[in-house]
Amino acid sequence: MVGRLARNFGQTSAQLRSFVTARTSDRSPGDAHASREVVKEAEKLRAELHRHNYLYHVEARPEISDAKYDELFRRLQKLEADHPGLVTPDSPTQRVGAEPQREFETVDHVTPMLSLDSSQDEGDVRRFNERVEKALGGVKPKYILQPKLDGASMELVYERGVLVRAVTRGNGRAGEAVTENVRTIPSVPLRLRTEKREVPELLALRGEVMMYISDFQSFNAALMERGEEPYASPRNSAAGAVRQLDATITASRKLDLVAYDVIAADGARFTSDSEGVKAIRDWGFKVPERTQVAHSLEEILEYHAAFAELRDDLDYEIDGVVIKLDDLSARAAMGTTSHHPRWALAYKFEPRQEVTRIYKIDVQVGRTGVLTPVALLLPVVVGGVTVSRASLHNREELKRKDLREGDRVRIQRAGDVIPQVVEVVEKGAHRARPFEMPTKCPACGTRVIEDGPRTVCPNRFGCPAQLKGRIVHFGAREALDIEGLGEETANLLVERGLVRELAELFDLEPERLMELEGFAEKSSTALVHAIRARKKPELARFLIALGIPEVGVSVARDLAGQFGDFARLRGASREELEAVSGIGPRMSEAITTFFADARNRKAIDAVLERGVRPQASEPVRADLPDLGTAVFTGTLPIPRVVAENAWRRIGGKTAGSVSKKTAFVVAGDDAGSKLDKAEKLGVEVLDYAGFLVRLRKHGGSIDA
Ligand code: IVH
Repeated sequence: MVGRLARNFGQTSAQLRSFVTARTSDRSPGDAHASREVVKEAEKLRAELHRHNYLYHVEARPEISDAKYDELFRRLQKLEADHPGLVTPDSPTQRVGAEPQREFETVDHVTPMLSLDSSQDEGDVRRFNERVEKALGGVKPKYILQPKLDGASMELVYERGVLVRAVTRGNGRAGEAVTENVRTIPSVPLRLRTEKREVPELLALRGEVMMYISDFQSFNAALMERGEEPYASPRNSAAGAVRQLDATITASRKLDLVAYDVIAADGARFTSDSEGVKAIRDWGFKVPERTQVAHSLEEILEYHAAFAELRDDLDYEIDGVVIKLDDLSARAAMGTTSHHPRWALAYKFEPRQEVTRIYKIDVQVGRTGVLTPVALLLPVVVGGVTVSRASLHNREELKRKDLREGDRVRIQRAGDVIPQVVEVVEKGAHRARPFEMPTKCPACGTRVIEDGPRTVCPNRFGCPAQLKGRIVHFGAREALDIEGLGEETANLLVERGLVRELAELFDLEPERLMELEGFAEKSSTALVHAIRARKKPELARFLIALGIPEVGVSVARDLAGQFGDFARLRGASREELEAVSGIGPRMSEAITTFFADARNRKAIDAVLERGVRPQASEPVRADLPDLGTAVFTGTLPIPRVVAENAWRRIGGKTAGSVSKKTAFVVAGDDAGSKLDKAEKLGVEVLDYAGFLVRLRKHGGSIDA
């Protein structure tokens, strides 16, 4: 059943690995022992398999049976096994097979992945249309309309038609290279189709990795059967799947990729987005269903209404429709804000609502000691997601809504936000008394204090619930991103006394972990490795991990960029902090108070004593001028990254390939194709000395 496997990957990783030959990209292509006929046959088989894969997964109109597909697949596998030199990285046999990775490399996006401005309000759509009309100065705008797919967004990069990179959205500027995982998605072309359209030198696309609702439900059912925690939504599940270190696990989840945006296409020229979408389709991708152009507000509203109707019948999640100006030069003229393009708007649907019963109101203690009442609900499916709990925020909100155990309530799920209780629909027959917040912390018994609408446990360093919260936060994605350090693990670590303060995470040994339920040798070692691998975190991540009040992702990044060094930052005065743009008195006070606290200092020192060394992040200063993109090629007298960093420090950008948009190319010795390309496109070429002059002109230097 190789064909079914290769097509659906609905198998365990062990089964998969045994089926798929090891990746052999380190071997040189071409094999002295393969005769010309064999080489030809392998090529033909690859092309045929690519084609049938495309017909099956993208067009959903297979021309051959699974059995026939199997036969072709096996024949190619046999040829490749006999002549390993024949294996190419884009061979259909090579979708899965890479060894598990330790971590993902963080790489810059070809261009930043902006998000979309969004609204649920028709008035905003009207105003958006008016702004566009005004910007176009009398020309009637043409829009491209698409469903807003609710999956995990992804940048795909193809060089000479071959998939070389797939990067998650990350922080918008850089994401994680999850290439091996994305390769396993059957609707992702490993090689672009060339039948209908030429393939550009470099192609960067944006798309959405999706999990169908039906697949999501059966996947979750299987998880629950094994006693594992289900995923909250198809989107979380898709995002989780592409971030597996072992690609065979990704392969075993059923994922799809829908592409909607050409980010860069060297050599191909489009004047409109609709041409771009057509090209995307020609190159062999799925594009959003019912992509359509519109010429008026009425058409936009109709489209939105039609999709709102259709939404419940779709097997995938959408949360609105996207309205994009079609003409690319008009887009360029309108430009973007720092967050989103001015030429697009996501017109979102009303959040989904359902009615269910609260059977209990529980209280949770978070990492900062805040007590949050939580409604435990009779499970109900809201827009494809099973909801069994909802945050009730605080006692004021509870009182305002007069929610009690036993009540039937309307809940809503808005996007990926935690479900909310909207209102009481029907009071319970045996209504409990009004809910009261406890006077003692349910986790540690300390008397709580009231802080505005919030109820807080003041036992910051002794409360196990707060420690659990800190551990989860420490390992969170935006913080140290420690795989496997989730809520359940944190609970176990604290309850069993293995971790009494954050620093002790670094003392964990696999042997001790193995004593915990659910921890086998492999997972114990993996967790210990994952923690220790984070001993040199980026400074910004480290700051986030510490959980300093008021310091979120972007503040942490600004601070890290400005101070560059943890010791300097922790000793900074309020004035020094406020010199950083975006840091006001409230933040500076929160930060200095945090670092002045003796117990915080002790906890941080303990972490540093374990050998944790935050690394200077590159400064990101919004006030720097855009100096343009430089491309470095050939051998330079200094390491390339040093040169690149020097350029970036003063506001320049760098890229790996040359395009019309490149400001200049720095060519070292033996520069090759990039130099040729620069010359062809008329891009300025500098030698190393010329680069130093340019650098100095803008106040930069190599060793800054
Ligand atoms: S266009 C500059 N089209 O929505 C933005 N985005 O909030 C260009 N998304 O994560 C994006 N479906 O990945 C566009 N048909 C569609 C989309 C779409 C889903 C996602 C996108 C991003 C989010 C934006």
